[in-house]
Amino acid sequence: ASTSVAIIGAGPAGLMLGHLLAQAGVPFVILEAQPREHVLGRIRAGVLEQGSVDLLARHGLDADLRERGLTHHGIYLQYEGERHHIDFLDLVGRTVTVYGQQALVAHLLAEHDRIGSTIVFEAKEVQPTGVTDPRPTVTYTHDGVGHEIECDLVVGADGYHGICRRSIPSGEIEVFERSYPFGWLGILADVPPSTDDLIYALHPEGFGMHSMRSLEVSRLYVQVAPDESIDDWSDARIWDALHERLGLEGWQLQEGPITEKSITPMRSFVTSTLQHGRMFLAGDAGHIVPPTGAKGLNSALADVAMLGQAILDHRAGDDTGLARYSERALARQWKVQHFSQWMTEMLHVLHEVPDASARAFRYRSQVGQLDHLTGSVAARRSLAEQYTGLPFTE
Ligand code: FAD
Ligand code: DHB
Repeated sequence: ASTSVAIIGAGPAGLMLGHLLAQAGVPFVILEAQPREHVLGRIRAGVLEQGSVDLLARHGLDADLRERGLTHHGIYLQYEGERHHIDFLDLVGRTVTVYGQQALVAHLLAEHDRIGSTIVFEAKEVQPTGVTDPRPTVTYTHDGVGHEIECDLVVGADGYHGICRRSIPSGEIEVFERSYPFGWLGILADVPPSTDDLIYALHPEGFGMHSMRSLEVSRLYVQVAPDESIDDWSDARIWDALHERLGLEGWQLQEGPITEKSITPMRSFVTSTLQHGRMFLAGDAGHIVPPTGAKGLNSALADVAMLGQAILDHRAGDDTGLARYSERALARQWKVQHFSQWMTEMLHVLHEVPDASARAFRYRSQVGQLDHLTGSVAARRSLAEQYTGLPFTE
C-alpha cells in the first residue's frame, strides 16, 4: 500500500494531525500499537491552553469541548496556610479550559470514524525504514500478517516509549533530560470539586493539587516518592494526605468514591532534533515535561499545528516549513521546558536532601519565591502568560 503521510501513534498528536491532513485532502494512515479501548481508557492530562482551544475551534473539532469543557479564569497557589488567586483573565486577558485528554481523544477518534479515516489499531512491530531516502516505508504486522506502507513522509507521534525516535541512529540525535526525585499519585473521585479554580499547594509534606474533570468528578494529586507502590496507598491514606496538604481553615475538601488511582514518575526530556530525513517527531516522542503546569498535551497540539501547516506547504511545493519545523518547535518547547521545571521546583519538597539545614533553606526560599509571585503583578503576569500558553504557529 502507499499513502502520503504515515502517522505512527493515535494519541492526541497523531489524531489531531490526522484531522489537519484530512481537512486539506492529504491522504494518511495512522498506525497504533494498542487496541482502541486502551487508547480510549487512558486518563492523563486535563488542562487546555487558549491556543489548544482555538486550534480545535478553528478546525471544527470543539463541539464536545464547548459542551463539556470548563473555562477557568485563573488558579490558586496555596502555601503556609494561605490560598492566593492568580487571575489570568485580569492579568493577560486569556483563560484555560479544563477538558480531559480522555474526552479529547474520544472526540477526535469519533470524528475520524465519521469521516472514514484509516486507523490501524494493534499494529505490531511498527518500523519506519529508509526515511533518508525519497520514498520511506513503514512496515508492521497486524493479526500476524506483515504489511508495508510506502509514503512521502513519516510522522512519529508515538509518545515517549515509541519506536520512531529510537530508530534514529545515535550519532544523529542527542537527548537532554533530567528526572525528579518524586512522582505524582493521581486519583479520579466521584465527587463535585471542592473548589472553583484549580489549587496548586506547597506543603512541608509535599505538593498537593486539586483539579477536576467535570462538575461531578474531581481529579486530585499528591507528591509521592518516585518508586512508591500504589498498593501502599489505601484510599484512606490518599484522602489523609490530600486533607493535610490542601487543608485550609474554613474550607473543607469533600471526599467521594475513588474510581482510578495511579502513580506517574516525573521527567524532563527533549531531543536535539525533531527531524530525521523525511521523518518528523511530534509530541511526547520528542519531549516530555513534568506535569506541573499542564504542558504535555498542549505541546503535542502546538507541534502538530505547526507540522500540519508545514506538510500542507510541502504539498504545495514549499519545503521551508518542514525544514524549519524542528528548530521552531524546539524553540517553543524549551520555553515550555523551563516553565514546567520552574513550576515543579517551586511547588515540590525535596525530602531526600540529607542535610536538614539545606532542606529547610530550600523550603524557605520556595516560600520566598511564592511570596514574590503572589505579591508582584509583574511576576503574576509572567506566570499567567506562560500558563495560559505561548502562541501557536500554524
Ligand atoms: P501519547 O499520548 O503518548 O500517544 C502516543 C501513541 O503512540 C500511544 O497511543 C501509543 O500507544 C502509540 N505508540 C507507542 N509506540 C508505538 C509503536 N511502536 N507503534 C505504534 N504506536 C505506538 N500531561 C499533562 O499536561 N497533565 C497531566 O496530568 C498528565 N498526566 C500524564 C500521566 C501519564 C501516565 C502520562 C504518560 C502522561 C501524562 N501527561 C500529562 C502528558 C500528556 O498526557 C502527554 O503529553 C500527551 O499524551 C502527549 O500526546 P502524544 O500524542 O504526543 O503521545
Ligand atoms: C491536571 C494536570 C496537571 O498537570 C495540571 O497542572 C493541572 C491539571 C489535571 O489532570 O487535571
